[in-house]
Amino acid sequence: MKVVLAGATGTLGSALLPRLVEAGHSVVALTRSAGGARRVADAGAEAVLADVLDEPGLLTALRGHRADAVIHQATALTRTPVAHRHLHATDELRDTGTAHLLRAAEQVGATRFVTQSFFLGYGYRDHGDGWVTEDQPFGELAGDEFDVHLRSMRSNEDQVFSADGIEGIALRYGLFYGPEPGTRKLMDQARKRMLPVPRPSGVTSPVHIEDAAAATVAALERGRGGQAYNVVDDHPLGFDEYVTALAAAAGAPAPRRVPAWLLRTTPYLHALMVGTRIRLSNAKAKRELGWAPRFPSCHEGLAAVG
Ligand SMILES: NC(=O)c1ccc[n+]([C@@H]2O[C@H](COP(=O)([O-])OP(=O)(O)OC[C@H]3O[C@@H](n4cnc5c(N)ncnc54)[C@H](OP(=O)(O)O)[C@@H]3O)[C@@H](O)[C@H]2O)c1
Repeated sequence: MKVVLAGATGTLGSALLPRLVEAGHSVVALTRSAGGARRVADAGAEAVLADVLDEPGLLTALRGHRADAVIHQATALTRTPVAHRHLHATDELRDTGTAHLLRAAEQVGATRFVTQSFFLGYGYRDHGDGWVTEDQPFGELAGDEFDVHLRSMRSNEDQVFSADGIEGIALRYGLFYGPEPGTRKLMDQARKRMLPVPRPSGVTSPVHIEDAAAATVAALERGRGGQAYNVVDDHPLGFDEYVTALAAAAGAPAPRRVPAWLLRTTPYLHALMVGTRIRLSNAKAKRELGWAPRFPSCHEGLAAVG
């Protein structure tokens, strides 16, 4: 397939682009910088300089291009979000950015659209001990400061599912980790004993970025239009266990335990690490995409980061 890829230079995009090329797809990669253009060209893509938030500029930059599919992996998270404001630019990319990329899809003649969604769209709360499947409500508003993020996650998915002439697919990725700057930074912090283990801890559902990239290629090729897929590994785990595994993989001493309430000064981080307990099921992605994570748990995956 010929694919327009937004976010080709990001954490997931950098893992995804070589896999798309290896699978025989030809990729037009969007980036806003000359450095990004060089990187994607080195990885085998045709670079197009464009900002997805500038609709006329985007459409002009893609004039003359034809493609079968668009993949939206653009986020604006240069680091793990700690405060709500760190997510606002990403919220805009999930709302306005998706709208612009759907117009671009129409212009290039694409009939498939795969978008990056996020597991916390199920809600930043305690989901109990059962498995959360794609049938559960997504993007439901809670009446608090998380609504702005939930609204944009919902808007992203609703737009791709309802666009005329488009088979829209949403990938609800779990927490990314792997050989990428964010994970390496956390490992550095663990070595300096700056990464706390909150007690009590929430429960999270991680995914190695190489597994997330493999699922994305599978979704492009085999995903059903109008469907969302949870893209996570097989073993949800407590955030305390995750941080402890991160430290062990970094060769760092056991992290310090801190009472969970101490994280309340950073409400977003508190919600992520303490307030949210969520065990995502990947059964649908396995069944329909013919995909399975190479790293079934982050214990194996983090050990491979080194
Ligand atoms: N599910 C998850 O846990 C999750 C999801 C996403 C990110 N993260 C984490 O967040 C950290 C940063 O991730 P990242 O590197 O993917 O994010 P990033 O540094 O924000 O980069 C994201 C990508 O989006 C593109 N982009 C952003 N705004 C754009 C715009 N207006 N127009 C066109 N393209 C735009 C960037 O392209 P150019 O800069 O080349 O233009 C880049 O390719 C990582 O540690 C990652 O693990 C986690």
